[in-house]
Amino acid sequence: MSSRLKVAVLISGRGTNLQALIDACAEPDFPAEIIRVISNVSGAFGLERADKAGIPTKVIDHKSYDDRASFEAEITRELNACGTDLICLAGFMRLVTAEFVENWRDRLINIHPSLLPSFKGLDTHQRALEAGVKITGCTVHFVRADMDAGPIIAQAAVPVLPEDDQDSLADRILEQEHVIFPLALRLIAEGRVKVESEKVLIDGDVVAPPALVFPALS
Ligand code: GRF
Repeated sequence: MSSRLKVAVLISGRGTNLQALIDACAEPDFPAEIIRVISNVSGAFGLERADKAGIPTKVIDHKSYDDRASFEAEITRELNACGTDLICLAGFMRLVTAEFVENWRDRLINIHPSLLPSFKGLDTHQRALEAGVKITGCTVHFVRADMDAGPIIAQAAVPVLPEDDQDSLADRILEQEHVIFPLALRLIAEGRVKVESEKVLIDGDVVAPPALVFPALS
C-alpha cells in the first residue's frame, strides 16, 4: 500500500473530478492514493466528498494572504508535510506562479475542459459553441507557467451536437473528464509517463481507438 503514489488534490468547488479520482483510488490495485485535499474556498462541496472518503482536508484561503507567493508557500508547506508526490489540480480556480510550477515541475497536473491548445482559459464551452467546432473535449496536462499549457498526457474528444447549449456540452465533456483524469493518474503512478522535449511519451502498449467522426457517415 505504501508504495502507492501519494497524491494531493487542489480544488475550489463541487469536486466531481475529485470524486472520480477518489473512486479510482478506491479500487484495490490502483497505484495511487489521495493523501490530502486542499481547497482555497471554505465551503467547497469537494471538501465534503473528501471527508466522506476519509481523506484529510485543509482550507487555505487565498484571501488570507498578502500575495500569491505567500499563499502558495503555505500550500507547498502543507503538501511537503504530508509527503506529496504529485498534485492534481481539479477545478482549482487560482492561477499558479512560475515559481510554484518550477517547484513541482512534472509533478503537477491539471484537467481542462477543451482539446488544448484550443480554448484555453474560461468559458471554454461557450467559445467552442461560438466557434462552431464539431468536436471538442478535455485534456489532462502537466502544468507550465503559461495558463493551460504544458505537455499533454491524455485527451478525450467529444462531439458538439446541434442542439447543445453550454450546459449540455459541459455535461458531456465532464463525463469524459472523469475518465481521462484517473487514466492519466494511473499512467503516471505506474511510472509509464515521461516528458521529453516538452512532449509526453507513454511507455508500453496503448490502445488507439478508431477516429471520432462527426457527423458520422450514416
Ligand atoms: C472541470 O470542468 C475542470 O475541467 C475545470 O473545472 C471544472 C471543475 O469541475 N478545470 P469539478 O469541480 O471537478 O466538478
